[in-house]
Amino acid sequence: MSRNKQDASGQQNIEETSVKNLSGMENRPASKAGPAIETRLIHGGDAEGDESKTLAPPIHMSSSFSFDTIGHAEEVMAFESSDYVYTRGNNPTLRLFENRMTRLEGGTAAVAFSSGMAAISSVLFSLARPGDTILTHKTVYGSTHTVTAKLLPRYGINSASVDLTDPSRLEEILEKDAGGRIKVIFFETPANPTLAVIDIKTIAEVAHCRQVTVVVDNTFATPYLQNPLALGADVVVHSATKYICGHGDAMGGVAVTGDSAYGFSLKFDYMCELGGVMSPFNAWLMLRGLKTLAVRMDRHVQNAGKAAEFLENHPRVRRVHYPGLASHAQFDTASRQMRGAGGMISFELEGNLADAKLFIDKLKIIKTAVSLGDCETLVQLPAAMTHRGYDRERLAEFGLTESMIRLSIGIEHGDDIVQDIAQALDA
Ligand SMILES: Cc1ncc(COP(=O)(O)O)c(C=O)c1O
Repeated sequence: MSRNKQDASGQQNIEETSVKNLSGMENRPASKAGPAIETRLIHGGDAEGDESKTLAPPIHMSSSFSFDTIGHAEEVMAFESSDYVYTRGNNPTLRLFENRMTRLEGGTAAVAFSSGMAAISSVLFSLARPGDTILTHKTVYGSTHTVTAKLLPRYGINSASVDLTDPSRLEEILEKDAGGRIKVIFFETPANPTLAVIDIKTIAEVAHCRQVTVVVDNTFATPYLQNPLALGADVVVHSATKYICGHGDAMGGVAVTGDSAYGFSLKFDYMCELGGVMSPFNAWLMLRGLKTLAVRMDRHVQNAGKAAEFLENHPRVRRVHYPGLASHAQFDTASRQMRGAGGMISFELEGNLADAKLFIDKLKIIKTAVSLGDCETLVQLPAAMTHRGYDRERLAEFGLTESMIRLSIGIEHGDDIVQDIAQALDA
């Protein structure tokens, strides 16, 4: 059990728990190579030469930008200048958000999108051609599954779901792919909603031997807890709607890469032409959210550790999936590649679907909602909600059960979250 206490001021004192704080992130020193992530979250990619000197970045709510002369217009349209044309191509507030995300993920280019799904679908469209196959981990976010399993096949792009927690399986699959049809491997780590952790470095090594591109959805971990590009991934995508925004009030997505030429093509051949651009106001909200990402994530991790440990020790709970628990199947991988176990938990009750529904209905502070990464703790039933697009008959094959409950642990007081879970379990 967790031994957290309150001091006289009601502040939460986080003491030792049996949940591992993966690599001791609170003691992480600033890197000699440059500012630490806490500093980059606030200053990374700061714009030079803004005459207004506003401390908070201005929101450039303009769809178009004027040119000095027609010659200037021609120069900008030919990409000989980085001045602005039209917000669907670029905008100063969007550029600042993209530059900050580039610094945070350790890439060379980032593209902002209107939602996580706009980022994911554009990245997949940009990397695959008719006849190619996209390999995904067996569980990914429901809409990502719909795009790969149902939409892309209409354009001749096939997909297959495999268990990527076992990299030797991937080697076998790639070996059998004599025609070299597999061009992209896409996975989330931790995965939604099973919290499976996939070894980014090993998967990237295996994939790169066959010139396969690796795309990692880093939504659950955020750049604060995990940097897939540093571990060998080629592209990182985020639903910025979640932890990056942090307040559940704006949609957004972003893709980051270490390949500038690919980043340029993704921006101008896909985002710009397909049209899933982020609004400048949302980019400003994302920049505001990033400023507090480090402190929010620290609290999400502390509270989730406490809740996971409570659930694991509760007699009415059959199984808990949380990468910070030593019982998690990929605990060692999580310890190697993450700086904290994140704020997401999924679990199974002793009992059936009706018991899971009753538990959810009895929660008082915790709200039933589909999103995640907000300040509020949220609960949902993935098979009935976010992952509804999965074939009912094949749920087990995908590692899902109808009664799996997913929690997005918020930043309320950890004891209140645990007490709410406890009273609903008693009920
Ligand atoms: C892991 C993951 N990736 C992508 C998405 C899609 O993001 P958005 O809702 O911003 O389109 C979600 C949404 O829940 C998600 O959980």
